[in-house]
Amino acid sequence: MTTTRDATPPAVRDARDGRRLPRRWRKAVLVTHVVSAGAWIGIDVIVAVLVLVGWFGGDVQVRSLAYRALATFVVWPMLASGLLALVSGVVLGLGTKWGLVRYWWVAVKLALNLVLCTLILVVLEPGMGAVGTYGQELLDGAPDPAAVSTLFFPPAVSLTTLTLATVLAVFKPWGRTGWGRARRERVEGRA
Ligand code: HEM
Repeated sequence: MTTTRDATPPAVRDARDGRRLPRRWRKAVLVTHVVSAGAWIGIDVIVAVLVLVGWFGGDVQVRSLAYRALATFVVWPMLASGLLALVSGVVLGLGTKWGLVRYWWVAVKLALNLVLCTLILVVLEPGMGAVGTYGQELLDGAPDPAAVSTLFFPPAVSLTTLTLATVLAVFKPWGRTGWGRARRERVEGRA
């Protein structure tokens, strides 16, 4: 059996398929994207562990340390990895055939990423001062539990959402959006 090779140069093939990012760059950005998304998930796991230690850690010194670590170290690395996943995802979308709003799986991931980064800035970060104070007050014996009563939600919501985003990235469900279908008709009509 003979196979016919596509003699079109790779750069021309990429342009024809709507890929503007050279292959090597696409791979480098994809690595950045997957690593930053993985780091984000890892930081969420650390948050969940610190929250559980804060609640059930037994020793008051250990619980206090968990809350103070949460208040001091977590938010900015989490936001940095979220923004890196966002920026690298946008570069991948714009630089490949996937686009930003051509396919539902990309558009939904974009929305989820934006919502999570906004929640980190608007909900999580402003509450961290009270969490640190609670950790300090645990040692003095007069803490106000309201400061940490809802701390379970941030890691639970974020881990669920990031797992969903990973499933979307791997399975790429739901096909094209209306915009994506219209664009394909335009491009195919021109060919
Ligand atoms: C919410 C956090 C996100 C997570 C956890 C995530 C996860 C992933 C993973 C694991 C892959 C690799 C899939 C594979 O190669 O089979 C991937 C690829 C991709 N992601 Fe994301 N992503 C996120 C956000 C975004 C955003 C905001 C965009 C764009 C707006 C985006 C666009 C893409 C694109 C276009 C690819 C495919 C790249 C290619 O194969 O050329 N992602 N994502």
